[in-house]
Amino acid sequence: MISFLWAEDENRLIGKDNQLPWRLPADLKYFKKTTMGHPIVMGRKTYESIGKPLPGRTNIVLTRNPAYMADGCEIFHSKEEFLLWAQLIEEEIFVIGGAEIYHLFIEEADQLYVTKIFEQFEGNEYFPKINWENWQLISKELGIKDEKNPYNYEFRRFIRKQ
Ligand SMILES: NC(=O)c1ccc[n+]([C@@H]2O[C@H](COP(=O)([O-])OP(=O)(O)OC[C@H]3O[C@@H](n4cnc5c(N)ncnc54)[C@H](OP(=O)(O)O)[C@@H]3O)[C@@H](O)[C@H]2O)c1
Repeated sequence: MISFLWAEDENRLIGKDNQLPWRLPADLKYFKKTTMGHPIVMGRKTYESIGKPLPGRTNIVLTRNPAYMADGCEIFHSKEEFLLWAQLIEEEIFVIGGAEIYHLFIEEADQLYVTKIFEQFEGNEYFPKINWENWQLISKELGIKDEKNPYNYEFRRFIRKQ
């Protein structure tokens, strides 16, 4: 099963200059808790933005560069290579970005975990437009706004309608 996980603002913004446009530690905690123990798949730019493999998870990096290496990560060079591997994996696989990789796999996603932040930020990378009619909301939970997390936000989970 392929799950997408991301955080977006009111305009579907997800990135700014290869970083996140906001600081929201509660979302990073949610990311860690949700993905822990599962394979995570990311584009080369997102990997370099994180800067290291994330512990407790098989880290898969997509790049077209045949010489690319990243210690502690598995490297795939095409969508097809990833999908062949994913067919053999019984557990939930998390696609964690960024924009190019979400575009690449949106038709393959079975579940969506989105943190919706009710603000408008500045940046340059957007999540693709989704036809929400194809998706059923199965859970939502308001995030806690506090000194360290100064926004209104909600964790939402969807499954693809049959
Ligand atoms: N808000 C969120 O939840 C969230 C999550 C993740 C990332 N982000 C943000 O998103 C931004 C990065 O997104 P991005 O779109 O610039 O980059 P990206 O999707 O992380 O990585 C793009 C790279 O993936 C590789 N790639 C793409 N298609 C491929 C294919 N078909 N086969 C093999 N490799 C392929 C290429 O690497 P090569 O150039 O090496 O060939 C490409 O340059 C950052 O600002 C980051 O902070 C936000």
